[in-house]
Amino acid sequence: MRLAIADPPYPPMFSERRDREGGPLRVTSRSRARRWYGDGPRSTTDSPAADFHPEAGTWDDLTEHRRLLERLVDEFDGWAIATTPDGLGAYHPLPIAARIMAWHRPTAMPGGGRLMSRWEPVIVLIPEERRGRAGMRVSDVLTANPPTAGFVGAKPPEWTRWVLDALGYEPATDELVDLFPGSGSVAAAADGMLALAGAHHNPREERP
Ligand SMILES: C[S@@+](CC[C@H](N)C(=O)[O-])C[C@H]1O[C@@H](n2cnc3c(N)ncnc32)[C@H](O)[C@@H]1O
Repeated sequence: MRLAIADPPYPPMFSERRDREGGPLRVTSRSRARRWYGDGPRSTTDSPAADFHPEAGTWDDLTEHRRLLERLVDEFDGWAIATTPDGLGAYHPLPIAARIMAWHRPTAMPGGGRLMSRWEPVIVLIPEERRGRAGMRVSDVLTANPPTAGFVGAKPPEWTRWVLDALGYEPATDELVDLFPGSGSVAAAADGMLALAGAHHNPREERP
């Protein structure tokens, strides 16, 4: 099977504001893609940017996210897209078989509003042959803390293992494409699964 994990820069954050009390509501947007992976604007309290991509700003266009989903549907048997709760709309309508899993991040930065932001969705399309109850069952909620320092947006190894378990990843036979490698943490966790599977499948290594 051909599987993909897509962890692109997240869609921009839209908000409504009134310039004066009683005035009309105005919609504003703030780029997450350029803030973390491009040429700003950034706040003085932001941790250092993760890396720089000259075309990060293309992810401020919601149609780019839609194009990503269509590419995944065309080219892969199973896939996952990481995004934000408010970014989900960029991917709708989803394929009927797609599911949304919740990454609960207890120590994540809570944001400034009344609702503390503590989770991120992962949209998954499990390969058709792997959707049944046979084999491992996987919760659609993962509680794991994001890495405390380093690359902004990096996923902890538990996240990758959870997503790949949901996709029914068979390390020895599946091809896995990490479309937005960033820190390399997704590939590193997948390599760990491959190494474990190799050890398990090799009877010579199981002898004392
Ligand atoms: C959310 S991060 C990926 C994090 C990664 N999964 C990890 O665990 O470290 C998104 C990545 O996409 C890159 N990126 C930004 N704009 C891009 C573009 N137009 N095309 C491809 N990659 C881009 C960013 O530089 C960043 O490395």
